[in-house]
Amino acid sequence: MRSQIYDLMHPLINDGSGVYELDDLTAYIDKLLKKACIISVTDQDILQGFLAYYANDPDKQVGFLSMLVVLPTAQRMGYGRRMVEFCLTDLVHKGYKICRTEVKENNIMAINICKRTGFSLIEKKGKYLIMEKVL
Ligand SMILES: CC(C)(COP(=O)(O)OP(=O)(O)OC[C@H]1O[C@@H](n2cnc3c(N)ncnc32)[C@H](O)[C@@H]1OP(=O)(O)O)[C@@H](O)C(=O)NCCC(=O)NCCS
Repeated sequence: MRSQIYDLMHPLINDGSGVYELDDLTAYIDKLLKKACIISVTDQDILQGFLAYYANDPDKQVGFLSMLVVLPTAQRMGYGRRMVEFCLTDLVHKGYKICRTEVKENNIMAINICKRTGFSLIEKKGKYLIMEKVL
C-alpha cells in the first residue's frame, strides 16, 4: 500500500500547480498509514484511488478528511464521491458529529467534490478553505 500511495501522489506534489506542497511525501504517507483510516479502490493490483481520514478525536466530535486522490485514468467514474460517502457514513457509525477538511482555494476539483458531497465553506485560512459537513 505504501509504495502504491507514493506512486499515486508523487506526480501531484510540487508539480507547479501549487495544489500540493509537501516537503516529505514519505513521512506524510507514513503518518497517514499509522494514524488515519484509509479507504482504497484497487483493480488488478493497481491502486485506482484512496481516501485518508482521521477518526481519532478523543471526544468523537470532529473527523477530518485529509487526502483524496484518484488515478487520472479512473477519474470521473464516481470513485471520489463514493469514497467520501463511505467515509462520512463510517464517521456517523463511529459517533462523530462533524467532518471537516481543508482544500487549497485554487483546487476546483476538490472544492466541487466537497460541495457535491454536502460540505460548506466555514472559514478561509490564507490559501486554504476550511469546509465542513454536519453529520
Ligand atoms: C478530486 C478527485 C479526487 C475527484 O475524484 P473523481 O473520482 O474523479 O470524482 P467523481 O467522479 O466522484 O466526481 C465527484 C465530483 O467531483 C467534482 N469533479 C470531479 N472531477 C472534476 C473536474 N475535473 N473538474 C471539476 N470538478 C470535478 C464534480 O463535482 C463531481 O461531481 P459530478 O460528476 O456530479 O459533476 C480527483 O479529481 C483527483 O484525484 N484529483 C487530484 C487530487 C485532488 O485534488 N484531490 C482532492 C484534494 S483532497
